[in-house]
Amino acid sequence: MYQDQIPITMMTATDFHSGTMVDQANIDIVLVGDSLAMTVLGHPDTTSVTMDEMIHHTKAVSKALKHSFLLADMPFGSYEESPAIALRNATRFIKEANANAIKLEGGSRVHDQIKLISESGIPVFGHLGLTPQSINSSGGYHTIGKTAVEAKKLMNDVYSLQSAGCCAIVLECVPDKIAELITSNSSVPIIGIGSGSKVNGQVLVYHDVLSMYNHPSPRFCKKFEDLNSAIAKALSCYRDEVVMKKFPEHEHSYRIKKEPLMEFVE
Ligand code: KIV
Ligand code: NA
Repeated sequence: MYQDQIPITMMTATDFHSGTMVDQANIDIVLVGDSLAMTVLGHPDTTSVTMDEMIHHTKAVSKALKHSFLLADMPFGSYEESPAIALRNATRFIKEANANAIKLEGGSRVHDQIKLISESGIPVFGHLGLTPQSINSSGGYHTIGKTAVEAKKLMNDVYSLQSAGCCAIVLECVPDKIAELITSNSSVPIIGIGSGSKVNGQVLVYHDVLSMYNHPSPRFCKKFEDLNSAIAKALSCYRDEVVMKKFPEHEHSYRIKKEPLMEFVE
């Protein structure tokens, strides 16, 4: 697709249901993103989600896929320490959860991890620009690459990831012109999120696209549907009908043809 300049589509999924929906929508890559720490597990950021939790969700998503490629996020703390630890944890996603590839955050600092994992036969996706796992040192979620120094560092990180054997790179929250420059200088596909349209593909978070997660969302989170409102409406309707004895009705109940025998009632 990259060679033919066909845009690559990616979306997150976190369980069997969302996996089924994303797969049926013919989206190329299903990402079990560590953003599930927030959207599904209720954490304030992605730093506390564990390997076991990511494996648990990846397994559920894998059971739903008929044709999409399954990509899993390595959680914070599962790869930084050493290439050997990174490989051990990456292997778990393939062996235990049927993933096709893994993604990890960071530039040249994770070069050796990416090299060992990809040489071992596991495709690795990089993640540059805004890297949410570094929230405690970056001090917030903001655009990366606005200054010449930042843009140059980004480009160097792309080269570092490429030389390590990375097969594609997610580029988050980078100004469109910088993302375009990076994309034209990169030899691997750049999948953007909040990085404009001049990249090789797009990724968004399922819960953002469908408005299923209440938070002040950044401008790149286009809401394609408002499921929160639809769900809220259905649930309060159910509650009201039970309280008002409107549900269940005749058609929702089971009946017997003959009256019960007296012995049965006794
Ligand atoms: O965790 C996630 O959902 C991600 C995407 C935003 C790329 O990494
Ligand atoms: Na992520």
